[in-house]
Amino acid sequence: MSILFDSEKKIFKLDTAGSSYVIRVDKNGFLLHLYYGAKIPDVNLPDFEKRCRYASFSATTPEADGDYWSGFTPDTWPFEVGCNGCADMRTASLQIRNADGNAATDVRYVSHQIYAGKPGIPGLPALFANEESDCETLEILTRDETTGAEVTLVYTVFEKLSAMTRSLIVANASEKAFEIERVMSFCMDMNSCDYDLISLYGRHMKERDFARRPLSHGVQGVYSRRGSSSHAQNPFIALIGRGGNEEYGEAYGFNLVYSCNFSAIVDVDYNNSSRVMMGINPDDFGWTLQPGERFYTPEAVLVYSDAGLGGMSRTFHRLYNRHLVRGEWAHKKRPLLVNNWEGTGMDFDDEKLLAIAAWAKETGLEMFVMDDGWFGKRDDDTNSLGDWVVNEKKLRGGIGSLISRVKALGLKFGIWYEPEMISPDSDIYRAHPDWCVHVPDRARSLGRHQCVMDMTRADVRDYLFNIMSEVLANNDIDYLKWDFNRNITEAGSALLPTEKQKEFYHRFILGTYELMDRITKAYPHLLLEGCSGGGGRFDPGILYYAPQSWCSDNTDALSRIDIQFGTSLCYPASMQGAHVSASRRTSYETKRNVAMWGTFGYELDPAKISEEDRAVIKTQIADYHQYYDLIHYGDLYRLICPWDDPYRAAWAFVSEDKTEFMFTVVVKLYMEARNFFLKMKGLDPDKRYVCEETGEVFSGALLMNAGLSLFRYPNGDGESFALHFKEATTCK
Ligand code: DGJ
Repeated sequence: MSILFDSEKKIFKLDTAGSSYVIRVDKNGFLLHLYYGAKIPDVNLPDFEKRCRYASFSATTPEADGDYWSGFTPDTWPFEVGCNGCADMRTASLQIRNADGNAATDVRYVSHQIYAGKPGIPGLPALFANEESDCETLEILTRDETTGAEVTLVYTVFEKLSAMTRSLIVANASEKAFEIERVMSFCMDMNSCDYDLISLYGRHMKERDFARRPLSHGVQGVYSRRGSSSHAQNPFIALIGRGGNEEYGEAYGFNLVYSCNFSAIVDVDYNNSSRVMMGINPDDFGWTLQPGERFYTPEAVLVYSDAGLGGMSRTFHRLYNRHLVRGEWAHKKRPLLVNNWEGTGMDFDDEKLLAIAAWAKETGLEMFVMDDGWFGKRDDDTNSLGDWVVNEKKLRGGIGSLISRVKALGLKFGIWYEPEMISPDSDIYRAHPDWCVHVPDRARSLGRHQCVMDMTRADVRDYLFNIMSEVLANNDIDYLKWDFNRNITEAGSALLPTEKQKEFYHRFILGTYELMDRITKAYPHLLLEGCSGGGGRFDPGILYYAPQSWCSDNTDALSRIDIQFGTSLCYPASMQGAHVSASRRTSYETKRNVAMWGTFGYELDPAKISEEDRAVIKTQIADYHQYYDLIHYGDLYRLICPWDDPYRAAWAFVSEDKTEFMFTVVVKLYMEARNFFLKMKGLDPDKRYVCEETGEVFSGALLMNAGLSLFRYPNGDGESFALHFKEATTCK
C-alpha cells in the first residue's frame, strides 16, 4: 500500500520508492501540507504546520478565534489548496466567483477514498497505469459550504518511481451558476525557500535553454499566454536545494500535462515558505459552471529526487516511457526516417521526392516523410492551409501514386499536416471566413501569413477529421507530422456566447486533443510526431498523442547540444525528434553523434551533399539499430552540461541492468589543455567493461572514480566521439 490514512491523526501519507508526501486534515477541515521529500517512515509530524505564530495583520477564520497562540492563521499555514479571499493572503490556487458576485472561496474536507490504479481525465491527456498495481489513487472531496462548490483533489502515486500526479475536479453542487476564475492543478506550501528555481526558456531555433535563479521573496515563475505551451517557456519547473547539481541535492520537478496557456508560480512569503503551483494560466481564463456540471483540470506531474537533477530527469524519463506514451508505438521500434523539409523546402515534385526515397532505401533508412507543400497550391507559406487536397501539379498521379511508388521501394511513408491552421488564401477560408479564431470588429493578426482554425467548434473539427481521413483512410500511411506554426491572437470564437469567450483558450486545446484522439483511434497504426515551428509545443499533453516531438528547427549539431540538454531535464531521448541535416557546421560524424541522442533520422536532399558525405551516412545506420534500446530506454547521465562548461559537452546512456553503456563527448570550442579525464556515472563498480572501439577493459570503479583519460581523442572545434562499452564476461 503506497497510500496510508491514519484515521486517528487524520493524516494521509503517500509513499513512493524514494519519497513521502504528507497531508493532515485539521479539526476545521483544512487540508494542510506537512511534508514532501525523501521517504520517511513516520506519520507523526507534530507542529509541522505551525510555520509562524500569529502575525497581527493575518486574520483567522471565526472558528479559530482565540486559537492565535497555537499558531493558527490561514495566512501562514501550509495548504494543499490555496483558497482566495478568506484569510490566506498568498497567491491563490483556487478562486471561484459565486452567484453573489464575490470570489471568497474556502473548501474544507468532506470525505476521501483510496483505490488501486489511476483514473483518466475526461477530454484531457493524462498519465496512465499499465496495471492496477502500478499506482494507487487518493481522492479527497472538499466542499465550500457557502457556495456549494465541491472540489476533489486527485493524487496518484507511482510507487516504484518517486513520482505522483495531481489534478482537481470542481463540481457545482449548488442551485446557481458560478465562475471558476483560477484553478491550479496543484498547490503545495513548502517549508523553506532555500531553493533555486530552474526553468526552460527559449524561442524558435533555441528551445528549452536552462535557466537557474535563486528563489527570493515574492512571486516568480514562468507562463505562456500564447495559445500553446510555447517556445518561450516549457510547462516545467524544478526546485533544487541551493548547493545542488546534477548528482547531489534534493530536486523537485513539476511538469504540466497541458499544451495551452499555463502558469507555474513560486510565491515566497514573509515567512520563508514557498507556495508552488502550476495549472491553467488564470490570465484571460474563466469557466462558468452550471449546477450539476464539473470541470477537470489538467494534471501536474511531481517528481522527487535526492540525487540532484540527474536523478529527477531519469525518473521523468522512465515515467514517460512507461506511463505517457500509448498505443502501438509505445514499445515498437520507431522507423529510421528521412524528411525532405531542409533538403527541398516546398520546391519539389514527385520525381524529386522519389529520388530522395530511392537514396534512403539504398542507404538503409526505413521511412520517407513528405513535409509541407504537397497540398492546395502551396509553393510558399502564403496559402492553402486547410485545403488538405493533394496538389497534382506537384505530385503527378496523386498522392496514392507517390505512396505506392515509395512503398514499392520497401519504405514506410509519412506525411505533414498543420491541422489547426488556415490560410486566408485558401478555398476553405473563402467558404468559411468565420472558421478561424477571431473577434468581431478587429483585424485578424497573421503569423507566417496564416490564421488559426477555431478548434472550439465541432463543425471545424469534423471538417478536419473528414478531410484528413480522405488521405489517411485511402492510403497506406505510417507516420504523421502534426505541426503548429504560430501563436494565437484575437482569441475568440464566433460560436461561443459572450459569457463563454473567457473559456476560449481551454476549449481550443480541448478541441485539438479531441481531434488528436479521433485520429489516433481511427488510425491506430499511425505514428504521430508533434511539431510547432520546431519544439514550440514540446509538452506531455501533445506527447500523450504523439510519442515523439520535433525538438527544434535548428539542426546545427553544436546549437542542438544546448537544446537537447535542456529538453532532457524532463523528456526522454525516445521523445526528442533529432535529425542529421546538411546544416553549416561540423562533420557528419558530429551531426550523427548529436542526433543519436534522440529519435534519429535525416533531413536533407542527398543530391545536394557530396559523395563522401553520402558514404559516411551509409556507415551510420547500423549504430542506430545497435544502440536503439540503450538510447531510447537506458538511463541518461549528463556528464558535462553546457550550462556548466562552454567548451565541452558529454553525456552517457547506461542500460538499466548496467551491462552496457555509451558515452559521447562533443568539443564545442577547442581547448589547448589536453589533460582531460571524464568520470562516468551510473555504472556497476564491480563490473568490468570492455570498450568496443579499442578492446580495452576497465572496471566500473575506475571509470567512475578515476575517470578515463581522453588525451588521445579528438579535441578540435566541433569534433566529437562516442565510445561503447559492454560488460566484459571473459576478459579479466
Ligand atoms: C516548421 C517545422 O518545424 C519544420 O520542420 C517544417 O515542417 C516546417 N514547419 C514546414 O512548414
